[in-house]
Amino acid sequence: MTSSQRPQYILALDGGTTSSRAIVFDHGGNVVARAQKEFPQIFPRPGLVEHDAQDIWSTQLGVAQEAIASARLRASDIAAIGITNQRETVVVWDRATGQPIHNAVVWQDRRTAGLCDTLRAEGKEALFQQKTGLILDAYFSGTKVAWILDHVEGARGRAERGELAFGTVDSWLVYNLTGGELHITDASNASRTLLYNIHTGEWDDELLGILNVPRAVLPEVRSSSEVYGETAPGLLGAQIPIAGIAGDQMAATFGQVCLERGMAKNTYGTGCFMLMNTEQEAVPSRNRLLTTVAWQLDGKRTYALEGSVFVAGAVVQWLRDGLGIIRSSEEVETLATGVPDSGGVYLVPAFVGLGAPYWDPYARGTIVGMTRGTTAAHIARAALEAVAFQSAELLEAMQKDSGVTLKELRVDGGASTNDLMMQFQADLLGVPVVRPRITETTALGAAYLAGLAVGFWQDQAELRAMWQEDRRFEPQMQADERAARMRRWKKAVERSRDWEDAEG
Ligand code: G3P
Repeated sequence: MTSSQRPQYILALDGGTTSSRAIVFDHGGNVVARAQKEFPQIFPRPGLVEHDAQDIWSTQLGVAQEAIASARLRASDIAAIGITNQRETVVVWDRATGQPIHNAVVWQDRRTAGLCDTLRAEGKEALFQQKTGLILDAYFSGTKVAWILDHVEGARGRAERGELAFGTVDSWLVYNLTGGELHITDASNASRTLLYNIHTGEWDDELLGILNVPRAVLPEVRSSSEVYGETAPGLLGAQIPIAGIAGDQMAATFGQVCLERGMAKNTYGTGCFMLMNTEQEAVPSRNRLLTTVAWQLDGKRTYALEGSVFVAGAVVQWLRDGLGIIRSSEEVETLATGVPDSGGVYLVPAFVGLGAPYWDPYARGTIVGMTRGTTAAHIARAALEAVAFQSAELLEAMQKDSGVTLKELRVDGGASTNDLMMQFQADLLGVPVVRPRITETTALGAAYLAGLAVGFWQDQAELRAMWQEDRRFEPQMQADERAARMRRWKKAVERSRDWEDAEG
């Protein structure tokens, strides 16, 4: 590939839960190069999940360099970098040395479930929900930051003296990419912390007080698309503008060009996240969904309703690594299609509790309905179906909250390429499921946000025109069968609930 005068590409960096990825896009939104590296997952005790923040940074830098090199590009060919990331995960570092003071506490980590129970018992849930749009759950950053400040010796005092910085993974990456110049986040990531008022667009002193998090540790909240700064010299060969930041689920919504009210997408990654654009209205949920900032552009916040399921693609990893019934993730479809149905088996992958709409940190995984005739194929099939059942519950809640009956659901992420699962998903939803030609929509959304900021793409109309359908799955299941399956699923969920004792 040759270099030309004007930079022809955008680099998207995706700091995900299990791997760091870098993707180079051209002007047509096509993937030109991609690099990916997994990093270790640290499980200190059941229910706890950590990452070494230095692993996040070193793998992210490594894949950025690799993607640029593999496309035979120079850094000067890249017009801008867009960043997207696993959300809620907390890094606290020393401003003087740039060193983290504790492993990153990951979004899936349940260590602060007890603190959330206490706050709920004190009657604080409504306040948090009203101001942040979130449920008082260990999933979000606020209680995790407080936990680190309480458990690392001397941390609270140092935080109060302004010696420590807190950031979600976007902040941590920008801080390192700019050689420690910038400590920022964007409104979409801020909206996942339990510390940010989504209506005023500011960190909230009352909530900071309740969670005992000093203002001095917080990053500056910026929009999702603007030139924040440049990469430090020497990192990537030339200084490249960093011009887009959004949490991965919001970036995927943008990448799916769900830019109008009522448009929704579902991403099948480690977890499964359904977001519906509600434009400038922060719709409060009556069905235990989240109200969240989708992105902030030109000073204007766009909101979304979100349903978050903690374990989706991770259930396939578990079939591979935990149960050992498949050797690679790809084998799951072959195994599952070996049987016509799950043979009455229901698998609830509540490995780290349940997210929306249950929010039960004490639920644990369960398999019910097994008989002497149950085989590995039935279990594999039940595992795939579980992802679709969980998503169907999200859609039910979303339609009730928004009053919108969905015309179609756009899907993306690793498991969206699984035709069996997408057909079952359409069957259960009773709504067409539509897969775009490019399923790398998380990275694409980050690229779009960065590209808009530097004029690489002119406007949203240009982005809309680029979206192309790959395949549409029409619902085929009869309504009464769908209802019967959903009833059974909900019964299985009840069996998984309230299992683990309260921790912390
Ligand atoms: O909220 C957690 C989410 O951002 C993680 O996404 O793609 O790493 O499963 P993913």
